[in-house]
Amino acid sequence: MPQSRRDFLSLTAKCAMLAAGADLGLPMLLHAATPEDSGSTALPVPGKSGLFGLLAPEGGLTLTAAEAPGALPASGAPMLAYRTSHKGMDYLNPILVLNKGQNFEATLVNGLSEPTIVHWHGVDGPWRQAGHPSYAIGPGGSYKYAFPITNRAGTYWYHPHPHALTAKQAYMGLASFFIVRDGEEEAFAKDLDLRLGETDIPLVIQDKRLTPNGQLDYSPSQDDLFMGYLGNIVLANGQRRSTLKTATRLYRFRLLNGSTARIYNLSFVFGGARLPFLLVGNDGGFLPAPQQLDGLFLAPGERAEVLLDLRTLSPGQEVFLQNMPFDPMHNEGGGMMGMMGMGEMAGMGHGSAQAPVAEHGGGHETAPVASAGSHGALGEGDAYPILRLLVEQKVAYDRSLPKSLPDIPKPPTGGTERPITLAMRHMGGWTINGLTFDMDSSPIVVKKRGPEVWRISNSKESMPHPMHLHGYFYRVLERRGSPPQVKSRAVDPRGRLASDLGYKDTVLVWPGETVSVCIDFGTPKYPGEQLFLFHCHNLEHEDQGMMLNVKVV
Ligand code: C2O
Ligand code: CU
Ligand code: CU
Repeated sequence: MPQSRRDFLSLTAKCAMLAAGADLGLPMLLHAATPEDSGSTALPVPGKSGLFGLLAPEGGLTLTAAEAPGALPASGAPMLAYRTSHKGMDYLNPILVLNKGQNFEATLVNGLSEPTIVHWHGVDGPWRQAGHPSYAIGPGGSYKYAFPITNRAGTYWYHPHPHALTAKQAYMGLASFFIVRDGEEEAFAKDLDLRLGETDIPLVIQDKRLTPNGQLDYSPSQDDLFMGYLGNIVLANGQRRSTLKTATRLYRFRLLNGSTARIYNLSFVFGGARLPFLLVGNDGGFLPAPQQLDGLFLAPGERAEVLLDLRTLSPGQEVFLQNMPFDPMHNEGGGMMGMMGMGEMAGMGHGSAQAPVAEHGGGHETAPVASAGSHGALGEGDAYPILRLLVEQKVAYDRSLPKSLPDIPKPPTGGTERPITLAMRHMGGWTINGLTFDMDSSPIVVKKRGPEVWRISNSKESMPHPMHLHGYFYRVLERRGSPPQVKSRAVDPRGRLASDLGYKDTVLVWPGETVSVCIDFGTPKYPGEQLFLFHCHNLEHEDQGMMLNVKVV
């Protein structure tokens, strides 16, 4: 059911109030809680087949990257998807569920009209299995992957990685989860009575622009390539402003920011207040201990596993997963954008952001495309709802929240220090150590002898860059020079965030910040020389060359 114009207007009015009203830390923007408001569009929850169907492969899979007519839940438009069949079931972008120790075998078939290759983000494997862009295959080609799963349990994911085409292909739909399970995960799920696809929900958050008739629009301007392509609507599992009906019990959400560029500041909001939740996992599986939070930054490529306790709520009540106001810190371009200040950023273009919807055939709703320079159409720092949880059923649930999580070793100490600087090139574009991607050179060469400490510094006149490494995990050691909105969330004297604890593969580096990470190249992981990548997971930045080869010798 489409939302009424009145509710959009009331929301818009609240946004304007918020933008004007300086108190950006408070969740005063609440989605209008009228019954007709959020409509009855159901969140696409991963099921046994179809889009984001749960697939525990037995034997080899064939994944065909191709157009999927009518597949985009938000508008029924075509999208790109990985198509496969398994045991008589058909899937699009299957959520792969693997056990640690299992052999993973898949053949990628390129059904697109341009090169592609799959990267298993966060999944350990030798470089030829990791989708290096030099292995991109042409239309009609295929690529065979076969490697054992050695990761601990966690929420990983997969997406294309052909050079200069990653953003577009991921944006058009090619992306899904890669979930690894092990004994620790099984014990955890059993203790809390969590079931994947019922009370353990993979949730990929992606922003899109749709054309007036609901087609996915990827047409970045020069500015968009520089800053990142921002959409004007935000989808959860492909659907906008949807509802998940819940019971009064504990839920686990596996949050993935699958957007090309947008950073989210996520909270669960109930009755004007942020609900506490437990962060139990991040990019590399369980944290060393659960962390109680009421808000979390999630940058492109990052994952967060959270537990949300709905036991104190009653049927009929609703909770919103929202983006909360923050300063997106677009200080690039001489700080012009930054100087505008949050208020104006947050208020920018609100009229077009969640604008009144036009109705199209089949009752699908689409938002109009923002007129021009749509970078600010739905600002990253705006407040907006992403998903509604509607409590529907009262159930008895008596499990207690976890007080501890599986132990992980302390990061190794010492190690070669390697300074990494992120900066803007004089004529625009982003660099790592002053360089951009060159397929044939490896500006970073590391030895398999031991750990390295990378000190990743972002210049002040910059924007946040989520920096990702293939093949190895980071242990975040320290954050320095963090902006106030980050510093205020530090959980220890070293300035680390709750989401920095545990293993990370993507770390957000804010303007003016230096994030030190330890990478253990000393553990015998892959035989022979390896060629991995270190890049910004703002996919426009990646495609523009904010990426370097990392040779491991
Ligand atoms: Cu998810 Cu090299 O990327
Ligand atoms: Cu990766
Ligand atoms: Cu970047």
